[in-house]
Amino acid sequence: MRSNASPDRSVDIDWIEVPPDSAQLDFGEAVREGLSRASKTLPSQFFYDAEGSRLFEQICELPEYYLTRAEAEILERAAPDLAVRHPRIETIVELGSGSAIKTEVLLRAFLETRDGLCYAPIDVSRAALEESIERLGRDHPELEIRPALAEYEAGLAELRALDLGPTLTLWLGSSIGNLSKPEAAAFVSRIARDMRTDDRLLVGIDLRKDPAVLEAADDDADGVTARFDLNLLARINRELGGNFDLDAFRHVVRYDEDSGAVKSFLESLAAQRVEIPGADLEVAFRAGERIHTEDSHKYGPEEIDALARGASLRVEAQIRDAGERFAVSVFARA
Ligand SMILES: C[S@@+](CC[C@H](N)C(=O)[O-])C[C@H]1O[C@@H](n2cnc3c(N)ncnc32)[C@H](O)[C@@H]1O
Repeated sequence: MRSNASPDRSVDIDWIEVPPDSAQLDFGEAVREGLSRASKTLPSQFFYDAEGSRLFEQICELPEYYLTRAEAEILERAAPDLAVRHPRIETIVELGSGSAIKTEVLLRAFLETRDGLCYAPIDVSRAALEESIERLGRDHPELEIRPALAEYEAGLAELRALDLGPTLTLWLGSSIGNLSKPEAAAFVSRIARDMRTDDRLLVGIDLRKDPAVLEAADDDADGVTARFDLNLLARINRELGGNFDLDAFRHVVRYDEDSGAVKSFLESLAAQRVEIPGADLEVAFRAGERIHTEDSHKYGPEEIDALARGASLRVEAQIRDAGERFAVSVFARA
């Protein structure tokens, strides 16, 4: 579905909107399904309403949250070379673009090395998309912007139909870590199937390291990550008329060495019942019962190689930050 309906923009931008009829975008449906399970869960993609996106930007500034700084350091170092090495790229697609602040260094380098460039951010957060395209449209009037308010694969399918030429697809911020490793392998394989010779996939991946460092990144001393996690319950209260008492839950983080996952939970501090009329649900919690809200999987170098091989891709480049905490991998067809 197309619309020119970016309410805050003076310039018309052709938006792609995939209607929220799939369970992935329907918050009420996802809440009912996740909180009705024996092991309760809420999908992490719903973190990013306007408040969640604002809190995530604060997280990126935290001393414990090294990921954004490490990835930005890599992109700043690598962008000019990437742009020169890939002169045929006409479009940069970004999965889960969020604020797209780190993306700007790539956009600038690619704009400087070709006549025109299309940027197609895909995100389920309308607030994040509107804010970022407003800024990018103002700062780079020569950039063609094709935002897609959609879940990753629905957005990719819509963009593919537009045939935007050789494409560099970005998946930054260690968002790959939110998927289990088999899910990530399957997702990357589906992207790879549609890649042509000149297409590239660039993925920011957080590396395995000291568990204390990993846990602190998702559970900072000032409690910003806790507020980000609890915002899921606040969002249920705001949008679905829920009556969660935010003081009756706490944010808990655990690292599982085997899977390489930092797991986040919201733990009920007492036995309690919560009503969520917008999800047609009344749900009981035991004291100590947890809602699983997010996984953040970390990779070793050999796991990144296996990810590429499993998708019939080759690692064209792999760049790490000076502290060897984070890797940006550029994949091409094998
Ligand atoms: C961790 S933030 C990363 C933002 C940005 N890429 C960065 O590196 O700072 C993840 C972003 O992906 C979006 N997102 C998460 N799951 C998604 C999905 N399945 N489809 C589309 N967007 C998604 C969220 O709305 C959010 O803006």
